[in-house]
Amino acid sequence: MSPRKICVLLASTLSVALAAPAAAQTPKVPGSPLYQKLCSQCHGEKGDGLGLAAPRLLPRPRDFTAGKFKIRHTPSGALPTDEDLEHVIREGMPYTSMPAWKHLSDGQIKELVAAVKSFSPDFANPEKKPKPVAIPKAPAFSQESAKKGKEVYARIGCPACHGQLGRGDGTSALTLKDDWDHPIRPADLTKRWTFRGGPTREDIYRTFTTGVNGTPMPSFAESLSAAERWQLVDYIVSLDPRDEPGYAELVQVQWTTDEIALDDLAKAKKLFASARPAYFPVIGQITEPGRAFHPSANGVTVRAVYSSSEIGFLVTWHDMRADTTGHNAPDLAVPPEEDQGDVTPAASSNKGGGGVFGEEEETPSGPSAPAAPANTASSADNVFGEEEGATATAAPGAEFSDAVAIQLPNQLPSGPRKPYFIFGDAQSPVDLWFVDLAKKVATRYSGAGSKSLSVVEGEDVTAIAGYDNGEWSVIFKRALRGSGGVTFTEGQYVPIAFSLWDGAQRERGNKRGLTRWMYLYTMPKETPSALWPMLRAVLAVLAVEILLIVWVRRRHALKSQDRPSQGTEPQDRKVPVHV
Ligand code: HEC
Ligand code: HEC
Repeated sequence: MSPRKICVLLASTLSVALAAPAAAQTPKVPGSPLYQKLCSQCHGEKGDGLGLAAPRLLPRPRDFTAGKFKIRHTPSGALPTDEDLEHVIREGMPYTSMPAWKHLSDGQIKELVAAVKSFSPDFANPEKKPKPVAIPKAPAFSQESAKKGKEVYARIGCPACHGQLGRGDGTSALTLKDDWDHPIRPADLTKRWTFRGGPTREDIYRTFTTGVNGTPMPSFAESLSAAERWQLVDYIVSLDPRDEPGYAELVQVQWTTDEIALDDLAKAKKLFASARPAYFPVIGQITEPGRAFHPSANGVTVRAVYSSSEIGFLVTWHDMRADTTGHNAPDLAVPPEEDQGDVTPAASSNKGGGGVFGEEEETPSGPSAPAAPANTASSADNVFGEEEGATATAAPGAEFSDAVAIQLPNQLPSGPRKPYFIFGDAQSPVDLWFVDLAKKVATRYSGAGSKSLSVVEGEDVTAIAGYDNGEWSVIFKRALRGSGGVTFTEGQYVPIAFSLWDGAQRERGNKRGLTRWMYLYTMPKETPSALWPMLRAVLAVLAVEILLIVWVRRRHALKSQDRPSQGTEPQDRKVPVHV
């Protein structure tokens, strides 16, 4: 599923009447009926961002009366050009509910641009006429430049918001607000496809140059040279080469001859090095009460291996903070008030003080940031300083902890019908492997719907978990044949789904991020065939013969050239050793 599809899915499930394509013959009259028809349910009839759907959306639909626009080719704080507005309406804003209006005609887009501009008097002010900034073509990417960019990144203060490794987990990440006082998440720089303004190197360069108006993301036009900005761009590109997520449908379970031992996380993770990572989109559970309209996670990476007796899953995802106090469970009730969708700012719902990560943080594997920023005069440093102050009030001790679950059918479905994706149904129950990351112990639930979840006694499933620089890693394992649930065998397809809970956003129970049903495919073992040993013997004999021929020929050639023995000797020795 493409990000765009997810956004559209989200928007349409919100019963926003997006489905109707733009009426072909919309009249072009002042006040734009086209705007009222397509845009007002989010942006409001008066363009104030207070449409019907607005309370459930994060980021909120833009309040056009403020004249603050994110994606611009104009200096920080300035109005966008008409081309900027046309572009953003046509392309939409990835990973927000702002749809792409690709099917509209040029005339319709121009009408909408005029409508958007009509809501702010600034556009009529000749002094505020936008003067575009030229964005140069990107120089070629180089590792050298990415390496320098990494230094710039740490020196200028990006990690305070975006985290040491760019995963959006900076110390001030949870305290950030936009100009309308709504919580805003720093971008996860390892996922360029989520950037509002596009994933290309030019797009990113433009972001540094012009800033993101109305958000804490500053412009670095004053504080960084063009060369430094390109280095930063290359650093971001080096964090993950993908500019599209490349979503998978299937986890391939790789055969391993090793034991799946879970006593040490770093060691256990190595077992999965040969397994192919499958990246799945995570969307909010918005079908049943307890809805998560804007879940924290937008993707989860899964790797799986099996040995002669066990199956293991490595599940990783990015989270702004490890919430390891409090508790969580798949059957926790969420009061209906929370369903209204109004955001509970994480920072205000948490009390207390002290270290954000507590003792749960593992030794960061990433580079340590250089000492204090050297250039104190830049505007970026000021921002950095302010946010640092805010960090002191950001608290640990959420009421709810982070959590993760693997969902499998309790029995292999014989036909195409799978259990209901939200914790199963009476006819086809699910087997839920759940880990509350405050306890880091696996619990099994049997589910016949979210109102009918029960703990399954026994210690069939075990787990180990750790958080490092914005990323959770959780490994689950179970015997191939458990005391209940599916028996895993070679060459078999099993439906599988995942749920993630972010304690900082009070996700618990049915308020969570989830994947739809995906598939697990247990790859056949690489059993040595009878043919292989024979073939190997033949190849070995052949290799010896070739070496002998080469050796004899070289000797012959060297002798006839009458070269000094000094140079020939090592060769003479080397070849027979191989034989
Ligand atoms: C389903 C809700 C929804 C609908 C419908 C919608 N928008 Fe948006 N729009 C948003 C959200 C949410 C944002 C803010 C995204 C962000 O800040 O990252 C936004 C932002 C914008 C922006 C600001 C771009 C920038 O650079 O900051 C413009 C312009 C815009 N929308 C125009 C429109 C127009 C024109 C229409 C109708 C054709 C429309 N939108 C319909 C949700 C919507
Ligand atoms: C004060 C906090 C803060 C600092 C410092 C900061 N950013 Fe950001 N950044 C943000 C926020 C918040 C967003 C998300 C804006 C949004 O969602 O519209 C963001 C967005 C971005 C984006 C994505 C833009 C897009 O198109 O969506 C990039 C790239 C980025 N930042 C890179 C950087 C780099 C590199 C630095 C250091 C030079 C930096 N940021 C410094 C807060 C910050």
